[in-house]
Amino acid sequence: MKLADARRDQYRKLAKENNYRSRAVYKLSQINKSFHLLKRGMKIVDIGAAPGGWLQFASKIAGDNGLVIGIDLKDIEPIPNVITLKNDVDDRETLALILKSLGGKADIVMSDLAPNVSGLWEIDHLRQIDLTRKAVEITKNILRHDGNALYKIFQGESTSEFVADTRKIFSEVILTKPDASRKQSSELYLLCKKYKPPKVSDISG
Ligand SMILES: C[S@@+](CC[C@H](N)C(=O)[O-])C[C@H]1O[C@@H](n2cnc3c(N)ncnc32)[C@H](O)[C@@H]1O
Repeated sequence: MKLADARRDQYRKLAKENNYRSRAVYKLSQINKSFHLLKRGMKIVDIGAAPGGWLQFASKIAGDNGLVIGIDLKDIEPIPNVITLKNDVDDRETLALILKSLGGKADIVMSDLAPNVSGLWEIDHLRQIDLTRKAVEITKNILRHDGNALYKIFQGESTSEFVADTRKIFSEVILTKPDASRKQSSELYLLCKKYKPPKVSDISG
């Protein structure tokens, strides 16, 4: 077995041992260890959340006084203290449903969205960025002033444009690749700190 495969296997094994639904949970836990994103009592929205590893981790940290909402096209098996919505980010109703469950603003929005991959990297990259842009649009409507966001992206020709766009609405954007993310996978995570909603006077047209 190659070293990379052995490491991947190691996270899968760990997830199983710790009753997490996906190995993806270790990407979030490692990012959280470095950047202290999630805190007790937070309102957390997770977009592209199935099967629910990130939700399990987030709800443990948010605790009983927090609120965790997960959205996905696919069913998510119930998790205590987590609200799950079966919706497409492309669907107009999705934002209204999140707002209804949230009852206020979120402290953090996370997206681990990924399309079904075709194997043609540039196409998968463009589809993934397009999906993640939907998550950014949702973010603009639900995130509190100075709140944070975490977005997965598949790297490719649109990466720099996407990063530049997030820098327009966040004070700081950090690109990070946790150890649990396979070196050869080309996925990256954008940690976007301190949301600055555009002032009405900044919006042209
Ligand atoms: C990598 S998985 C997320 C894993 C998750 N973070 C975890 O820890 O279990 C990506 C998810 O994005 C979802 N997804 C893809 N397109 C979507 C869309 N248009 N609307 C909602 N979810 C979508 C997929 O169904 C898939 O479950």
